Amino acid sequence: MENIFNLKADNIVIRNPIALSAMAGVTDGKFAETYAKNAGIAVLGSYNLDEESEKAGAEAAARGRTEFFAREDVNNDVYIQIENEIDYVNLKMPETVPAVSVRSASLTPLLKAAELIKSKNAIMELDIHCRQPEFTERGLGQSLLKDTQKLAEMIQKIKETGVVLSVKFRTNVVDPKTAAEFFDAAGADVIHADAMIEGKGADIEAIAKIRNATRKLVIANNSVDDFDAALDFFSSGADMVSVARAAADDPEFIPHLVKKITEYQQETGWYNTPKHVCKRGDNRSLAFCCPPVKYCGLLKKIDEVGLTNEEFVQLKQDAVKGTPLEGGKDTCFGSLVWCCKGTKSCFYRDEALSDLGISQVDYMKMKRELSEKILDAIDEKKSRASN
Ligand SMILES: Cc1cc2nc3c(=O)[nH]c(=O)nc-3n(C[C@H](O)[C@H](O)[C@H](O)COP(=O)(O)O)c2cc1C
Repeated sequence: MENIFNLKADNIVIRNPIALSAMAGVTDGKFAETYAKNAGIAVLGSYNLDEESEKAGAEAAARGRTEFFAREDVNNDVYIQIENEIDYVNLKMPETVPAVSVRSASLTPLLKAAELIKSKNAIMELDIHCRQPEFTERGLGQSLLKDTQKLAEMIQKIKETGVVLSVKFRTNVVDPKTAAEFFDAAGADVIHADAMIEGKGADIEAIAKIRNATRKLVIANNSVDDFDAALDFFSSGADMVSVARAAADDPEFIPHLVKKITEYQQETGWYNTPKHVCKRGDNRSLAFCCPPVKYCGLLKKIDEVGLTNEEFVQLKQDAVKGTPLEGGKDTCFGSLVWCCKGTKSCFYRDEALSDLGISQVDYMKMKRELSEKILDAIDEKKSRASN
């Protein structure tokens, strides 16, 4: 099957940008098969790996949160359980990459899980998300964020096994930009952000901040209960969107999102096109900006990414040299490199595209490539400045 979204977490190819998010005691292989039939990723767990996390789970269960004690049978080996669930997803859901969310206060069980998960070509997810006191009091879940040295070492050691690693955290617990930079530097391959606002839905801007801080795969999560909510995350820079509660409510919800986003990609050529800079688009939106000729949000954005106005102009011109985006001499600024999104109506741009024989879909694919080159140049300038 064609990989139209071009999505990868390290070396693992992901078929589409919709994921099932972890629900302890709920999201096992059978659940994924029923409620996330064709998801790009199905996160199983979270599983408690060591004695501390088991104790925390048992205590949480004793006050009624039975989902936190997820073992089918206390005598079961949790690693065998994990292996069986991954095998089930691999067998029954060929389009879906299994991911396994885990908790452990000590490193050795995490390394053992990492070896197992890697051997199955699955993704490991470290739960830095759980906020139940039984876990946080033991240094588990989101309390790991309080000891960044330990957390960085944990991530580095897990990565040394070669497993593809996701980290899941809440954006209202720690500054999302700082967290994304930290996880990226520590070596995580996937940043799974629960953009929760206490009692109020999702913090869309937190995702744009994360997008601007990392080139790693970003999964945005929280309150996605229709396609528009997913699109809000995508246009803020999410590579993928994950769903928990709405998926559990309706087995057709994830397939519906997969269908809608596949159609959207086929119709537009860029499923997670950024919002324009003036609508607080992330850095990728510079691909759609005109030269800095007037006072607008672009000036602030150019400054924010560490470029001068002249560098910005030069970089865009260089990036499209020899490509069809160089054409379009009758457009406002004499080249398609300065033109805006296909969804914004513009006679001049559309005339130029038609004269050059470029479809709207191909135009947006080229803008996506341009945005990557812009991000490369920003990264290069930043790294030169820090050396
Ligand atoms: C019953 C239940 C159990 C959950 N257990 C976990 C868990 O073990 N690990 C985890 O990372 N998130 C867990 N979550 C959080 C979800 O993965 C997700 O981040 C959260 O529900 C927000 O997404 P949503 O609005 O799509 O539900 C759980 C959520 C629910 C409702």
